Amino acid sequence: MDKNTDTTEEISFDDFDEQINPKPEENDFDRILEIALTRRGLLKSVVAVGGVATLGSLATLAPGDAQAATTRFAFESIDANTLDDITVPQGYSAQVVTRWGDPLWSDGIDFDHATRGSAASQVTSFGDNIDGMEVFAHGDKTLMVVNNEYTNRKIIWGNREEGKYETNDDVLKGKMAHGLTVVEIAQSDSGEWAIVVDSPYNRRVTPDTVMQMTGPAAGHDLLKTSADPDGNTPLGTYNNCGNGSTPWGTYLACEENFNGYFSAADEAHKVSPELKRYGVSSKDWGYGWAKVDDRFDVSKEPNEPNRHGYVVEIDPRKPDAAPKKRSALGRFKHENAELVINHDGRVVVYMGDDERGEFLYRFVSNGVYAVGAETDSLLEDGKLYAAKFHDTGAGEWLELNPETSGLASMAEVCIHTRLAASTVGATTMDRPEWVAANPKAPEVYCALTNNKNRGIKPNAGGDLTPAVGPNPREKNLYGQVVRWRPNGGDHTSNGFAWDLFVMAGNPKIHSDAYAGSANVNEANMFNSPDGLKFDSNGMLWIQTDGNYTNAEEFEGHGNNQMLAGDPATGELRRFLVGPNECEVTGCTWSPDKRTMFIGIQHPGERGNSHWPEGGDAVPRSAVVAIKRDDGGLVG
Ligand code: FEO
Ligand code: CA
Ligand code: CA
Ligand code: CA
Repeated sequence: MDKNTDTTEEISFDDFDEQINPKPEENDFDRILEIALTRRGLLKSVVAVGGVATLGSLATLAPGDAQAATTRFAFESIDANTLDDITVPQGYSAQVVTRWGDPLWSDGIDFDHATRGSAASQVTSFGDNIDGMEVFAHGDKTLMVVNNEYTNRKIIWGNREEGKYETNDDVLKGKMAHGLTVVEIAQSDSGEWAIVVDSPYNRRVTPDTVMQMTGPAAGHDLLKTSADPDGNTPLGTYNNCGNGSTPWGTYLACEENFNGYFSAADEAHKVSPELKRYGVSSKDWGYGWAKVDDRFDVSKEPNEPNRHGYVVEIDPRKPDAAPKKRSALGRFKHENAELVINHDGRVVVYMGDDERGEFLYRFVSNGVYAVGAETDSLLEDGKLYAAKFHDTGAGEWLELNPETSGLASMAEVCIHTRLAASTVGATTMDRPEWVAANPKAPEVYCALTNNKNRGIKPNAGGDLTPAVGPNPREKNLYGQVVRWRPNGGDHTSNGFAWDLFVMAGNPKIHSDAYAGSANVNEANMFNSPDGLKFDSNGMLWIQTDGNYTNAEEFEGHGNNQMLAGDPATGELRRFLVGPNECEVTGCTWSPDKRTMFIGIQHPGERGNSHWPEGGDAVPRSAVVAIKRDDGGLVG
């Protein structure tokens, strides 16, 4: 193949979407309630939003209380830094478990720093850009499933001029670095975790793996392609961001920015308005998949993008089983899928659509979960909702169905979910990232990572984005975490009360709303909350994917990091700082809760890291195990 002449700069997914689908500035919409902009005033609004009567102790967050309360933290907060290393509190240690390019089988090919691998080495090795992850106990085995979200062109093709693919094998290497990696892991006698090479559970799930479509969209005309005239057998999963898991032992991989992989040989080709809403265009994100696989050419296979953007259920105990795309959970840029078993046994899944001004969703199963009973249909059959937040501190779930959306069928609702949510008037959010449910109380948290368009531009569907409610700051650089409590503690209730758990900010340089809420101070400040996970004690772990320049608006924030928060007091402590130019994402625990696993994604994405190997090594995404030096519990 000719050398790639694509001149697309490597920019964020959201900026790419805006380049291909520009939106007008909102100059004239009815703007916005003035929110209290003094820090004290802001704190009041943050605290009072949910209403003391409905949120009880949640609404009592106040400065000083955290220090007065008996702490539930087992560590002292660490300082921000810009080291090309992992920093954890005194009394803890971190160890790399596995990295991008490590072979899963003994006949695999070791990672080559000069070539950065080949398609053949990559397909039998750990994928790139580690994101969501989960550990499952299976008899005496420990199985780990990890998303390999995407790949950074300048890293994976860093052996090529300008970091662009030059050969078909380069393109295929990039493609095979996507998907998921399933591995058995085990501890050595000294306690170090490593992959069990050649385990029968080891598996790569790639953009070419045969899948099964389930739920309302299965077999619909919009899913039919020349290779799959029945519309039931899509190939592959990619751009899997966050994840979820089920009590029946399966993993939920969530397809996020699926649009950026499609292109058309004729760049003048126009896609349908429905595809445009999802950011599909005639130009891809620089991966070149259409050059080696016609199904990624939207002029040839206009329905192929409709087969991506779902939650995919995978059983790590069955390495030969086809993963199942669960269309009942809707199609959008899925961040993660937080699954809760309601008190009546129904399965509730909370999900964010991570794009500026997109929505928050909920699925409620019709069937109930019972240990040992059939579980295969639970995520195929149920109702889908989008969230509306009122400024009063109340909220409601709006059902998405043919009647409310005006779409022709439930299949279309599950395929064009964004259109349905726009029609019912769901609240445009500041990029909903991970959702996490507190195991100790009926309350749910969602990271709203940032949104520089808040109050400035509508979303991709033209829905306005006024700076109100849980998204109160115009040009929101820092992000916030919203939480809600379902009415009556019932996750299937259509009503809830909400408030903001934290507004990130920079109190070093701001004294208004951009300083952040009162539980943010110069010792724990951060930006762009993304990964969220509760541990079994009900402590909330927050991971960041933000600006790591440590300058100007972000002075003092250092590298991306991980914090822990106490839902009862609002106190936040910094637990970990990642190496240069990484995102910290993905979090799970060993079955005995003595190890926490986290992911370090794309260290050195702008060329300034050699982590984890140091020297002049190629930087590599990696899974990291964190333990207490005294062997105690970490979650
Ligand atoms: Fe892949 Fe929304 O982060
Ligand atoms: Ca994320
Ligand atoms: Ca993010
Ligand atoms: Ca990232």
